[in-house]
Amino acid sequence: MKNIVVLVSGGGTNLQALIDAEKSGLIKGGRITCVISSNPDAYALERAANSGIPSRVVCRKEYSDSVSYSHAVLDVLNEEKADLVVLAGFMTILDECVTKAYAYKIINVHPALIPSFCGEGYYGLRVHKAALDYGVKVSGATIHFVNEEADAGAIILQGVVNVEKDDTPEILQKRIMENVEWKLLPKAVSLFCQDKIEIINGRAYVNE
Ligand code: GAR
Repeated sequence: MKNIVVLVSGGGTNLQALIDAEKSGLIKGGRITCVISSNPDAYALERAANSGIPSRVVCRKEYSDSVSYSHAVLDVLNEEKADLVVLAGFMTILDECVTKAYAYKIINVHPALIPSFCGEGYYGLRVHKAALDYGVKVSGATIHFVNEEADAGAIILQGVVNVEKDDTPEILQKRIMENVEWKLLPKAVSLFCQDKIEIINGRAYVNE
């Protein structure tokens, strides 16, 4: 069984999707052993507690820069013996001390079709606002490995939704979460835990 450590910062609906998938037996070969939050007030911490999952807070505000923060996160990941790290609405970019130590072992969910609307500054509702401002007709979410460049690691899965004329960032976010994120994130985690994701020349391929 692989130890899955989930990093969160906010509401934690993606964490909930992972918890529900694990309870339903949809995550084969792994179990969520710890939740780490960058924010002591994140509702995601209550979701972990409600399911009896141990949690830890590594508060971003207590560190002056991303490098010292990332070292603190790395220490906790090592203590928790993480086999897989899942960034589920984790709003801090991790330094290469983490991404190199856990190369191809960190999975992120990004709420757009990478390489559109991604990179530094694109997170949460800002992503959906940018997509609507541009006028795209489809958007979606991307599950990818995390490397040294923001939102640039190998893509594992992507899913698409239509953008409707009267969409607000909130409405589009909800449609993408319900139809793509909450389904594809648990799926990618389960594939990883069963060693069904292969890396060839820096690209990820799923062997189902
Ligand atoms: C999700 O839509 C996730 O894709 C996005 O933030 C939301 C968190 O929701 N993540 C990013 O923008 C990361 N760049 P949640 O806390 O309810 O899972």
